[in-house]
Amino acid sequence: MAEIGVDVGKAADILNSGDLVAIPTETVYGLAANALLPNSVVRIFEAKKRPFFDPLIVHISSIHEVEKYASHFPKAAIDLCNKFWPGPLTVILPKKDLVPDLVTAGQKTVALRVPQHPLTLELLKRLEFPLAAPSANPFGYVSPTLASHVQAQLGNKIAYILDGGPSKVGLESTIVSFADGTPKILRLGGLSVLDIEAETGHLDQDIIQNSNPIAPGQLDKHYAPHCSFEIREPTADEFQKKSIALLRFQSYHAHFPKDQQLILSETGSLAEAARHLFDMMRRLDDLKFQLVLAEKVPNEGLGLAINDRLKRASR
Ligand code: TXA
Ligand code: MG
Repeated sequence: MAEIGVDVGKAADILNSGDLVAIPTETVYGLAANALLPNSVVRIFEAKKRPFFDPLIVHISSIHEVEKYASHFPKAAIDLCNKFWPGPLTVILPKKDLVPDLVTAGQKTVALRVPQHPLTLELLKRLEFPLAAPSANPFGYVSPTLASHVQAQLGNKIAYILDGGPSKVGLESTIVSFADGTPKILRLGGLSVLDIEAETGHLDQDIIQNSNPIAPGQLDKHYAPHCSFEIREPTADEFQKKSIALLRFQSYHAHFPKDQQLILSETGSLAEAARHLFDMMRRLDDLKFQLVLAEKVPNEGLGLAINDRLKRASR
């Protein structure tokens, strides 16, 4: 099992020696390695059983680092990053040669993000390299929002988990590509499209629903628990079934036992629902229900990203 602690110096030592460390971010926990060292990065893919065609996000300590790794940083991207970094925003930019092909899955672009978590920012400032870090879960499973989630699934593959408490946003970063002329949104996430478009004006979305080698985080089935997961109301003959659980937005279903239901946000807050989503999906999975029936949340703001994750979990 991995050691869990808050020792940034220890995390830095392990990363400096080429090993993996799980790091807290405001979105989800990441599984980090020296992004400039292919021999370290390859261990991320091995630990996650992640296909090599799925590129990694490179985490940096500030916007001033971008030009080390990107060959072009257009004005629109600078403005967006100035506004939302540190935060749940990832930008795709043309890469410099320094970034290994393994990190970008051979693409000529690199994904960059400044995460918002004091421990991880301190860690990044201490290191002389950026951190490649996908979400710290086995490929295709639900992303971790607690150190214990990482321990449960990858604890035997990593030496250290830097414990930053529960992730404050709870959904992966929103990805905006500046790879060609017009920016577009590739992944809905913890920064709402509404907030982004308030800065940029309308952006096209290229959130592909089927297998997509350009952005495999968008694979049809992804972020998925092991149990059967469907988005629908229970039918009357399901009301008495002990094997079924409900994941509800704001209120309990009247005809279903309360101890078989989890509520994302009793106050109806989408931010709170986002924060609870992955933990609740994991809890229902761990309780070994055969079937989880989820209710959609309002399709606005962060709700768009929450519904996107529910949909991907349900295929
Ligand atoms: O919030 C987050 O983004 C978390 C934390 C740890 O930062 N990370 C995360 O990483 O969600 P991951 O690997 O689970 O998802 C990253 C996704 C990839 O699946 C891929 O879709 C996209 O980012 N990506 C990375 N590099 C790309 C590139 N050059 N072009 C297009 N998409 C890219
Ligand atoms: Mg992931």
